[in-house]
Amino acid sequence: MTTGTQNILHVVCESDRTALIPVSLLGFDIRVSSIADKIPLDAQTIVLDIDLAKADNITKLTAFRKTAPARCKQIFAITKGNLQEELQATTLGARKTTHKPLNDVGLAKIIEDIREAEGIFTPTATKAINAAAKTLEKTFTQFGANRPVDLDEVAATGEEVAKTIGDVGVNEWLSTVRAYHQTTFQHILIVTGLACSFATAMGMRRGDIEKLTIAGLLHDIGKVDIPAAILDKPGKLTPEEFDVIRTHPLAGYRFLSRQGGIDEDVLDAILHHHEFLNGTGYPDGLSGDQIRDLTRILTVCDIMGALLERRSYKEPFSVTESLSILLQMANDGKVEKVLVHALGRTLEKNINAINDKIPDESLIALAPLYQSPVDA
Ligand SMILES: [Fe+2]
Ligand SMILES: [Fe+2]
Repeated sequence: MTTGTQNILHVVCESDRTALIPVSLLGFDIRVSSIADKIPLDAQTIVLDIDLAKADNITKLTAFRKTAPARCKQIFAITKGNLQEELQATTLGARKTTHKPLNDVGLAKIIEDIREAEGIFTPTATKAINAAAKTLEKTFTQFGANRPVDLDEVAATGEEVAKTIGDVGVNEWLSTVRAYHQTTFQHILIVTGLACSFATAMGMRRGDIEKLTIAGLLHDIGKVDIPAAILDKPGKLTPEEFDVIRTHPLAGYRFLSRQGGIDEDVLDAILHHHEFLNGTGYPDGLSGDQIRDLTRILTVCDIMGALLERRSYKEPFSVTESLSILLQMANDGKVEKVLVHALGRTLEKNINAINDKIPDESLIALAPLYQSPVDA
């Protein structure tokens, strides 16, 4: 668990913490303060995320740096390709820079460097995530080449994911996966982590937890056949492109049911994870009781995962914002409200580790912002 860790990375900004800056990452607590604050004397590394073009900031920065502890590494966040900022940072004595906007990917790189330099080892989800991503890569390649997927390896990976989440906690899993670069695998690992921890927190039977974890790992395998130009499109999808996206549940289901050896509930979850209770989902427009319990859980976790992720067309929502949007979807009759509340309770215990806001019903207003992730 990251809670209680002594590893701290300080970020100094002009404004408050943004949704892009996680509260903890890779075993480090991330403390955000203003340039007007004093940094603790034991700070080892500070990331300075301020606008170097403002003269006032340079004055503040000069004063601030005088108070910074000796031997404290100072990393400047600069805009990629902006030579003037780069020059200014160098003039100010920057030995190291990172890119704006400051987010979990850039911070993860800084932390990895610190960990390596200091030989710091704290239990994190990184190893399990890298191993699971390798399995996903192999599994997706097998699917793409029309070869049987290695179900034993998928099951073993599911077990490892469950064990790691049990060890480090779901928030460490989520914040580490959010820094993982490959978007489809990032999505799958977030959804799988959510499904697994949700099922565990709900006290589900071991067999059902295993089924949900495997369904999480395989649910979007049909996306292998979808061109990256559509999957990673920065803007809104055209109706034609959306039709292509809609093929992935059936493609995955057909392939895996032909292969055989996969539980019926898992196959159903793969085929129907985009169905909505009010019949507005796809591919079969199922409604109400036609949608199995495990499938409903995977659907809620799938949407939650899409909301929490950074995608080519959107920044990540916080846990609170995501829950509010899911709640709105439950009010619209798309997903089960009981499940949204239960997922909220699962995450609420750890909510402060990945989110800095208190749940606010007014965020329901954000719901219209959220369209394609539900469908993709
Ligand atoms: Fe999907
Ligand atoms: Fe998905």
